Amino acid sequence: MNVIFEFILVLLNIGFSCLENFISLFIPPKRKDITNEIALVTGGGHGIGREMALELATNGAKVILWDINTEGVKETAAEINQNGGFARAYKCDVSNVDEVNQTAAKVKQEVGDVTMLLNNAGILYGLNLMRLTDEQIKRIWNVNCLAHFWTVRAFLPKMIENNHGHILTLASASAISGTAFLVDYSATKWAVDGFTDALDEEIDKLGCDGVHTTTVYPLFVNTGMTWYPRDRFGRVFEPREVAEAAIDGMLRNRHYVHVPRINSFTRAMGGFLPKKAYRALKKYCDLGIDLQVKNKDD
Ligand SMILES: NC(=O)c1ccc[n+]([C@@H]2O[C@H](COP(=O)([O-])OP(=O)(O)OC[C@H]3O[C@@H](n4cnc5c(N)ncnc54)[C@H](O)[C@@H]3O)[C@@H](O)[C@H]2O)c1
Ligand SMILES: *[C@@H]1O[C@H](CO)[C@@H](O)[C@H](O)[C@H]1NC(C)=O
Repeated sequence: MNVIFEFILVLLNIGFSCLENFISLFIPPKRKDITNEIALVTGGGHGIGREMALELATNGAKVILWDINTEGVKETAAEINQNGGFARAYKCDVSNVDEVNQTAAKVKQEVGDVTMLLNNAGILYGLNLMRLTDEQIKRIWNVNCLAHFWTVRAFLPKMIENNHGHILTLASASAISGTAFLVDYSATKWAVDGFTDALDEEIDKLGCDGVHTTTVYPLFVNTGMTWYPRDRFGRVFEPREVAEAAIDGMLRNRHYVHVPRINSFTRAMGGFLPKKAYRALKKYCDLGIDLQVKNKDD
């Protein structure tokens, strides 16, 4: 095909996609029906993961919960089952590839093929780079980043085969702007952002238009993960709010969910403002965290 003609098609595509995106701000695309889906939430025993599981169950999906916190997942599952939903809890450390593969096989046998994978389990230390131990650095990469490789590789093949599925990734606002005392954490979240972005293109290249990805970027959430958040104009969000926004975005096949929504704009600004200007703006908003040690003079 002629290069000029192709370019005109691309321009039309850009125009159409921007228009579609703009309209979807006011008239959101319909939420998909998930009553026949099997949704797996990692870290479903507490916080955002627990609330996402409840929200998925409310919308009719069968829910699988994985966590190292066995009490937490049992409680989440019990709550869903008592309310007439379907949930099964499993103990699984997502940073351990053997455990992931074995538990995935168990889930397949006991419940069926997972069609929605929500990679949510995560940890945060909140220390400056030199205060972290080597072991902590390895641990955070294993849990926040490598685990996504293990779980996705366990469930993606069936999704591709059936051209049906969805992978949701919990990134963080610190994946769109690197944050002091979160050097390790920001790096892992930046990595999983890149992971899903590249994976989404790979799925597209396979022609699988029925497999979707959603990445979620929350700012501070009241789960106990960050002790000393700083935000001059914002507030700390409740896990329920973040879960509702995440699942809503997922059901509308949105690629990105920012909480608060203004952060999609913040991200764009980071792309074109000079570093100095962006830093000044961030300082003005007093956005970040304090060192997460009980006694700051330690
Ligand atoms: N809380 C925040 O301020 C905030 C902000 C942005 C992003 N996030 C991200 O959201 C996700 C959920 O965070 P949260 O605040 O609900 O945390 P949380 O600590 O309340 O819950 C996380 C759950 O993951 C589980 N978990 C930890 N390591 C695990 C492992 N190796 N295998 C299996 N399960 C494991 C924990 O037991 C816990 O139940 C994380 O990925 C986090 O990085 C949180
Ligand atoms: C885990 O599963 C993946 C995907 O099936 C496989 O390629 C990998 O070899 C397995 N790893 C282990 C340690 O079992």
